[in-house]
Amino acid sequence: MRIRRSLIDLDDLTAEELAYIFERTGQFEREPPGPLLAGKACVNMFFEESTRTFTSFHLAELQLGANVVDLVPKNLSLATKGESLEDTAITLGALGICVLVVRHSEPGFPQRMALAFDGHVINAGDGVHAHPTQALLDIYTLIEEFGELRGRTVAIVGDVLHSRVAHSTIRGLSRLGASIVLVGPEAFLPSTYAGGQVSVERDLDAVLPNADAVVLLRIQRERFVEIPISDREYIDRFRLDRRRLALLRKEAIIMHPGPYNRGVELDDSVLEFAGWRYARQVQHGVAVRMAVLDLLVNARQ
Ligand code: NCD
Repeated sequence: MRIRRSLIDLDDLTAEELAYIFERTGQFEREPPGPLLAGKACVNMFFEESTRTFTSFHLAELQLGANVVDLVPKNLSLATKGESLEDTAITLGALGICVLVVRHSEPGFPQRMALAFDGHVINAGDGVHAHPTQALLDIYTLIEEFGELRGRTVAIVGDVLHSRVAHSTIRGLSRLGASIVLVGPEAFLPSTYAGGQVSVERDLDAVLPNADAVVLLRIQRERFVEIPISDREYIDRFRLDRRRLALLRKEAIIMHPGPYNRGVELDDSVLEFAGWRYARQVQHGVAVRMAVLDLLVNARQ
């Protein structure tokens, strides 16, 4: 297996590496791995808020026996003392840091860090660009449910344009042969997304009966100057509620990368639906991240 130094998006992984991550995820969930990162230092550098991703990376690193440092932006000279990204990378390299987990609002920031840093960089979300580990855990959740994804239909609903999760998930699902139906208003979902296995639809009610899985997205309000659609219109057209749940197949599942906003993209009836898989997704987050850490740090050529 090739050594992949960093994970910026799913394109950095070969088909074999993707399969290996999913296999290891299952193994790690059945039996916690030993200290595969013993003696290695990991730094978590989150310039944007995070609950799930931050906590699960931290837990994954601890479970692998790594030494873990959390750097919050206000303690970073990069943010407050004019130190450049490149010089920060030199500093962290001199400290012997092995893995940098980076979240930043600027698309491309983790990529720049990866070019400057003599270790492994994992993108934990960069602006609207990519969020590969969330996509991996979402895809793992789908594989756990359906096995082979070829021929399955996954609907992704909402603010696709600003969702780095959706962007990475679309890439991954396309590679695994799933059909992807994107649903949302024009302002959140330009028609240019259509192509290959990806189609664009505006009518959620028409899509639901044919979906094996529905992935709901949060409206990324922090990435808009002005929201181009009223909450009322969004709710009328796209909120998953009791009436729309009845349109789904019995065995369909519903996912959300979190954080979800009750009353906007879903209502409380979704949280009681038998196929609501949010908690499974979150649970897989730790093992998927352990598998990624292990692959990057330990895989041999
Ligand atoms: C997402 C993110 O930060 O990109 N959440 C996550 O990491 N699970 C999605 C979001 O913020 O809506």
